[in-house]
Amino acid sequence: MALTVAVATWLPQPHATIQDGLISAQAAELIARDLRRELERDPTQSIAELAKGYELDQAPIQTVYIVTPDGLDVLGRSLPDAVAELASSPGDPQQAARNISRRLHVQDDGLAGYRVIVFQGFFPLFPALAKPGGRVLLASFAVITSAAMAMLLARFIARPVRRLRIAGRKVAAGDLSVRVVPSVGGRSDDIAKLAHDFDLMTERIDALLQSRHRMLRDVSHELRSPLARLQALLSIQRQSADTAETRRIDRMEVELERLDRLIGEILDYSRMEAADGVGRHATDLVDLLQTIIDDAALEAEVADKGIALRAPSSCVVAVESNLVQRAVENVVRNALKHTAKGTAVDVSLKLDAKNVRIIIDDRGPGVPDALLARIFEPFYRVEGAQATRSSGGGIGLAIAERSMRLHGGSASASNREGGGLRVELQLPR
Ligand SMILES: Nc1ncnc2c1ncn2[C@@H]1O[C@H](COP(=O)(O)OP(=O)(O)O)[C@@H](O)[C@H]1O
Ligand SMILES: [Mg+2]
Repeated sequence: MALTVAVATWLPQPHATIQDGLISAQAAELIARDLRRELERDPTQSIAELAKGYELDQAPIQTVYIVTPDGLDVLGRSLPDAVAELASSPGDPQQAARNISRRLHVQDDGLAGYRVIVFQGFFPLFPALAKPGGRVLLASFAVITSAAMAMLLARFIARPVRRLRIAGRKVAAGDLSVRVVPSVGGRSDDIAKLAHDFDLMTERIDALLQSRHRMLRDVSHELRSPLARLQALLSIQRQSADTAETRRIDRMEVELERLDRLIGEILDYSRMEAADGVGRHATDLVDLLQTIIDDAALEAEVADKGIALRAPSSCVVAVESNLVQRAVENVVRNALKHTAKGTAVDVSLKLDAKNVRIIIDDRGPGVPDALLARIFEPFYRVEGAQATRSSGGGIGLAIAERSMRLHGGSASASNREGGGLRVELQLPR
């Protein structure tokens, strides 16, 4: 940009005597003088041969024609109308040139009826440059061109960069199917390389995640059969056990059941991770919540805790009811576990135009703010949180979150004023 402006202001250097068309008039005069000198030196020379020695075509500035007394170009070129008219006009050629066009300049002195005609090009900047305002004009032209170039450049670079940014955000949000190479088209520059590397990276992350899911699924699967055999062996052992041994076997069975439940949950989770949608059927979410709460109320009472539902009389939404039930159960179980003795867990259902929100509030210790998002990761447990014997091994909230995401919804957690955790499950209506 700066360069263009510098060149623009330097280029014209208009001189006070320079007039529109001076270059062309001078060219006519110079060539005519030279021809005259050559003819004086040797009058037998052919003007056509001499003409070949000049550079006559100087487009776009001007074109020089040397025409015969019959009005034809000595080199046999076809003449533009204005030149042809001047070539064949009788009388004073200077006067005729002025009458026909300002772009014509002619010399015929001492050329034996031949005429040197310069037809000034139509390149609009040249005459304009010679005028006093020319420098300003060219400078503005340069500024406008640079601005246009800058805009083009910005679009050419900014657009693919924006696409990369959007793709990056999608990947961060868990969509590993995005690819940017197709959107940068046939480029072969650094942007294209960046897009290529981006896609490579996304593919790699995708492959890593998939192998992680596969491993999780395979390991859990492999653990199932020995676990089943252990349970069978224990029940055989129980038949011949004395009282002390029966108590140990009871303990073992409790642990085995925990293990079995955990493995089941991991398998469910890995299945949900692999799925990309859900089968939906009309489900009354209020009924579903009521059933869960009725089941939980008994356990809650034993632990000196309460649970209550606040919801409209019904709310029918197309969902995979099993998955929604699992999600709500996991969150409600957590809330009942963590809420303080003598307090209640509040479950409420709220509707707006687009979403259904199921909110589960407790009066427990809550979760440090920085960890609120992490509790939805599989196997994540808050350090120092109370020992969780009856829990699902840190995978309950991951299942809840995945269930919501499969429905196009989301799960989030926040700390309540006055203590306690609020978990919000959101589903599109
Ligand atoms: N209502 C709650 N109050 C406090 N902490 C909670 C609550 N719900 C979940 N958490 C924290 O989030 C972690 C993950 O929960 P979850 O995935 O259900 O696993 P689990 O219950 O098996 O530990 C828990 O270990 C606990 O630290
Ligand atoms: Mg849990």
